[in-house]
Amino acid sequence: MEQKVVLITGCSSGIGLSLAVHLASEPSKAYKVYATMRNLDKKQRLLESMRGLHKETLAILQMDVTDQHSILSARDSISEGSVDILVCNAGVGLMGPLETQSEDTMRGILDVNLLGTIRTIQTFLPDMKRRRTGRILVTGSMGGLQGLPFNEVYCASKFAVEGTCESLAILLQHFNVHVSLIECGPVNTDFLRNLTKTEVGDGSVEVDAHTRSLYETYLHHCQTVFQNAAQDTDDIVKVFLEVIRCPCPGLRYYTSSAMLPLSSLKLTAHDGSQYVRAMGKLVFSAGSTDSQN
Ligand SMILES: NC(=O)c1ccc[n+]([C@@H]2O[C@H](COP(=O)([O-])OP(=O)(O)OC[C@H]3O[C@@H](n4cnc5c(N)ncnc54)[C@H](OP(=O)(O)O)[C@@H]3O)[C@@H](O)[C@H]2O)c1
Repeated sequence: MEQKVVLITGCSSGIGLSLAVHLASEPSKAYKVYATMRNLDKKQRLLESMRGLHKETLAILQMDVTDQHSILSARDSISEGSVDILVCNAGVGLMGPLETQSEDTMRGILDVNLLGTIRTIQTFLPDMKRRRTGRILVTGSMGGLQGLPFNEVYCASKFAVEGTCESLAILLQHFNVHVSLIECGPVNTDFLRNLTKTEVGDGSVEVDAHTRSLYETYLHHCQTVFQNAAQDTDDIVKVFLEVIRCPCPGLRYYTSSAMLPLSSLKLTAHDGSQYVRAMGKLVFSAGSTDSQN
C-alpha cells in the first residue's frame, strides 16, 4: 500500500507531537510524517517519544508558519513531492484584559494562529487542487466557536480560522479536498505555559480594580478547568485518526461534548444574551463579583 504523506505544523510539543508520533509509529507504516517545528533545537522531545528516528515514516523539518520562506523550503524538502494530509496545528494563546494587549502582541497571535494557518494552506492547496485529492485538518478550539473572557484576541484568531475553513470547505467540495476542524476544549499540553499572559499584580500594567478582580477569578477558574477537565493528547489524536480514516469527513469534530450545551445556547437564543449570561456565570460565579449576573 502506498504511504500517505502527512505534514504537521507545531510538532515540538503537545497535540502536534503526539499526532506525529502516533502516525509515524503505525505498525503498517501507512504514513510518512513530516513533523515540522519552528525551532529544530526542540526536536529531541519528539525523537525521544519515537525512541529514535524511523527514516521510513518520520522526517523532521524546520517550519515557522509566520515565515513564508520557511514554509516554501519545507514544502520543497518533501521527497514525495506532494502532501496528502496537511495538519495545521501550530498555535499560541494570549490571555489578559484587552486594554493591556499591545499592538505587537496582538499582531503576533494573529500572525501565528490565523495568517500562519492561511499561509500554510495557501502553500499546499494548489497541488491538492491539481491532483483533485487532499485532506486539510486544522486544530480548532472551543474558543473559535464561543467567546471567552480575557481571551478576546485568541478567540478572534480562532473564530477567523473557523470562517476561513468553512468558506474553503464549500469551494473545495469541487476538488475532492476535505477540510476538517478538530475542535478542542482544554488539553493537557504546554499551551498554558507557553501562552502570553498579562500579569496584573506586578504594578506594570494599569487595570482597574474591578477588572483585576474578575481576571483573578477567571485565572482561578481556568486552572480548575485544566486540572479537572483537560483531555490528554491521546484523546485528541483519536479524533484526528477518525477524521483521517473517514472516507468523506465532515467539517467539524468535537473532542469532547462537555462544552457543547453552552455553545448551543448561541443557536437557541439568537441575540446571544443567554450564552453571555451562562458563560459569565460559569466563569465568575466562584468570585465575589456580580458583573455578569
Ligand atoms: N491545549 C489546549 O488547551 C488547546 C485547546 C484548544 C485548542 N488548542 C490548539 O491546539 C494547537 C496546539 O497547541 P497545544 O495545545 O499542543 O500547545 P503547545 O504544546 O504549546 O504546542 C503549540 C505548538 O505550536 C508551535 N508554534 C508556535 N508558534 C509557531 C510558529 N510561528 N510556527 C510554527 N510553530 C509554532 C509551538 O512551537 P514552539 O515550541 O516553538 O513554541 C508548538 O509546537 C494550537 O493551535 C492551540 O490553539 C489547544
